Amino acid sequence: LAILTSCGGEKKEEQKKETIKLGVQKADEPKAEVSSDSNVAEIVIVGDDMMKFDLSEIKVKAGQKVKITLRHKGKMDVNVMGHNLVILNKGVDVADFGAKAAVARDTKYIPAGSENDVIAHTDLIGGGQTTTIEFDAPEAGTYDFLCSFPGHYALMKGKFIVE
Ligand code: CU
Repeated sequence: LAILTSCGGEKKEEQKKETIKLGVQKADEPKAEVSSDSNVAEIVIVGDDMMKFDLSEIKVKAGQKVKITLRHKGKMDVNVMGHNLVILNKGVDVADFGAKAAVARDTKYIPAGSENDVIAHTDLIGGGQTTTIEFDAPEAGTYDFLCSFPGHYALMKGKFIVE
């Protein structure tokens, strides 16, 4: 799996700590699992000032919780080189969505009324920032992901695969 190759060791440590914290919170619930590691797919994807993601493929398993951390390792401002990660539903065309999103500046390039087109999306971030989302993996299949900042999807896109 290529999903954890991107980040420095420090970052991974931080994320482990976060996971542990989450586990503690969940322990309040009755019947909470002692360790939810196998049920959580943790993915780190990194964007840069060159309009690139470091992953072109993200693989998870059906039924898993998915935790995606998007890190922007560049220096450029969010208004110039903003990145997000948007996972599209099946049947939604990357170019069509990208074109609609490009003019949706007021809603951070997530077009209003596109709820059914989008499985999950992160915040829009600039250089030096990190953002995380969690969601339940959709049914098995192959989905497209992209950065919906204007013009970025041509380079910043890939496949989100649920096995
Ligand atoms: Cu971008």
